[in-house]
Amino acid sequence: MNSFYTREELEQVGFKSLGSNVLISRKASIYTPDQISIGNNVRIDDFSILSGELTIGNYIHVAAFCGLFGKYGIELKDFSGLSSRVTIYSATDDYSGRTLTNPMIPKEYKKIKAGKVVLEKHTIVGASSIILPKVVVREGTSIGAMSLVNKSTEEWKVYFGIPAKILKSRKKNLLDLEKTFLNSQGDINEEI
Ligand SMILES: CC(C)(COP(=O)(O)OP(=O)(O)OC[C@H]1O[C@@H](n2cnc3c(N)ncnc32)[C@H](O)[C@@H]1OP(=O)(O)O)[C@@H](O)C(=O)NCCC(=O)NCCS
Repeated sequence: MNSFYTREELEQVGFKSLGSNVLISRKASIYTPDQISIGNNVRIDDFSILSGELTIGNYIHVAAFCGLFGKYGIELKDFSGLSSRVTIYSATDDYSGRTLTNPMIPKEYKKIKAGKVVLEKHTIVGASSIILPKVVVREGTSIGAMSLVNKSTEEWKVYFGIPAKILKSRKKNLLDLEKTFLNSQGDINEEI
């Protein structure tokens, strides 16, 4: 037994675009389907929240209990993934005390920090991590569990911690595996 929507049901949701082999749990919350683009071979698990302008590429997994708050844009590029309980914010209130906060307050009393969050190719974010607005998680970055990513990362590094810092370089063997895998799928020449 699984809890995924059927293809027919997904086509009724009204996504901006919808690729093939997309598995989305019926227990996920989808708030803005007209602003959500989904590529091929994507799985989104139970209790994840999809909100705002989301661009989700190919071969992507969003595990259970993730929150994608994308009013100002979130992009997950090919072969990226979120472990369970990862939260991505494209906007945050001002915590300094200079302004009022929270969504029930009119915007003239607040100062929102906002900007698109991008996870480039081959990035993976460990369980319960948080990514703040305007961050670019650059190609090949991995983020350890329970990290706070408040600055954009360098390519092909392993990060962890609060705030996230570089632990070491990340190996690039997966790039060879990507080629072999895509060849085996017969779509190496397709732009994914
Ligand atoms: C960051 C990570 C990738 C590092 O793994 P690793 O390369 O095997 O490194 P190590 O386990 O040797 O850790 C190196 C040091 O960092 C510490 N450390 C590792 N991950 C940490 C984390 N997320 N937060 C705080 N400290 C961490 C280790 O305790 C160790 O410290 P020490 O040298 O004082 O003993 C891994 O610990 C991690 O967090 N993976 C994410 C796993 C996950 O979320 N999986 C969900 C399902 S996919």
